[in-house]
Formats: sequence, C-alpha cells, structure tokens
Amino acid sequence: MRVIILTCYPEMFPGSLGYSVIGNALVNNKFSLEIINLHDFGIDKRGSVDDEPFGGGPGMVIRPDVIEKALNSIIFKTQKSCKIFLTPSGQKLSQAKLNILSKYEEMLVLCGRFEGVDQRAIEILGFQEISIGDYVLSGGEIAAQVLVEGCIRLIPGVLGHPQSLLEESFSNNLLEYPHYTRPKVWEDNQGNKHEVPDVLISGHHEKIDKWRNERSLEKTKFLRPDLLKKENKNE
Ligand code: ADE
Repeated sequence: MRVIILTCYPEMFPGSLGYSVIGNALVNNKFSLEIINLHDFGIDKRGSVDDEPFGGGPGMVIRPDVIEKALNSIIFKTQKSCKIFLTPSGQKLSQAKLNILSKYEEMLVLCGRFEGVDQRAIEILGFQEISIGDYVLSGGEIAAQVLVEGCIRLIPGVLGHPQSLLEESFSNNLLEYPHYTRPKVWEDNQGNKHEVPDVLISGHHEKIDKWRNERSLEKTKFLRPDLLKKENKNE
C-alpha cells in the first residue's frame, strides 16, 4: 500500500510507524510512506495554511485552496485509492472499517489541526471523514498513525502469525481471551503467589479452546456488552 500523509507537522512521522511490526513492514516495502508538508502549499511566504472561521468562533480553519494545491502535487497511480480526513466529527473507526480500508492500494490521509478544514475541501475533493474515537485530540497526526497501523497489519505477509488476526479482539465481535506466560507461579512483592490457570498447562487443546472461548465471552459481557448486541452487524 502507498500511504500519503498531508500534515502541518511532518516531523511527527513516521513516529510510531517506524517501530516493531509496522516499522519492519516499512523497511521491507510492504507499504510506502510519503509525508507532505501543508505549509509548502501555503498562501504566502510564511506558508500560512489557515484563516479565521466565517461566522465567528474560536480557532482557525485550514483553507480549501491550500488542500487543493497539495492534492494537485500528488499523482495517483491506481484506481484503488481513497482519501481520508481525520476528525473527531467523522465516522467512528472500527475493525470492520480497517478491513475495508486495508484493501486500497493508495491511501491519502489528511491530518486536521486547529478548528478543522474548510468543509468545501472535504466534500468537493472527496474525503471520507473518519474519527478514531469519541474524544478530541489536538490534531489528526496521532490518529493517522492509529489508522495506518491498523490497516497495514492486515496486509497479508505483514504479521508473522496470521492466525493471531483471527483470534484477536473484535475479529468476531468478542474481546480476546486473557494470556499467561512464565513463571507458572508468580510471587508478587507482598509474597502472594499467583498461579496460571491449570487448563493452560494441561496440554489438552480442546479444553484450552473451550476455556478461552468462555473467558472471551465472559470478558466481553463484563467490559463491552455492546459488542454482543452488534453481532452480524457490519460496524
Ligand atoms: N483529530 C482530533 N481528534 C480526533 C479523533 N478523535 N479522531 C480523528 N482525528 C482527530
């Protein structure tokens, strides 16, 4: 996948995208990352990109002509491209949405700052508005890293163990079961001993699967009952 980021803060990239599984995917050309500085397309020598909102109110709004100029500098090489604007007032991101987005060959991601982006640019230039959750960050750069990481790890060959994609949280509207590792008995600072559940060291795979399914359901009922109601819905 080719990922193109439009941002006022190019220094914030690759950021978390340069580490671990995704960092390796970048080095191994499973995806490419192009960072475009919106200030390079500013309206004056200082590279100004924003102005006051019409109708009054706090903050500044990124101008549509600046976004258009930045977009004109990009040549899309395929038909399978999408344009995303990250904003808290967008459609909420989900695992199902990441599955869809991960199939694009080119993804352009516009990071908002200030109060936002002129709505005409979003509509006329064909951006989908996406939010990573119901809370407000100071800009879209961190959200872009969340979105891109979520997509790239779904690309075949990026994860070492593709089975983990099937088992992880949200893959079937359930939270993932809990994990345990060595030591078998962990003695904490207070001298209390905590054992790993017996079934996990029984070597009995059917029993382990059953136990994990039960824990998964139990955890989902307790922490995210809304997910159980969502079953069979594509959200
Ligand atoms: N920019 C600021 N907050 C955001 C959010 N929750 N999702 C996406 N972009 C954002």
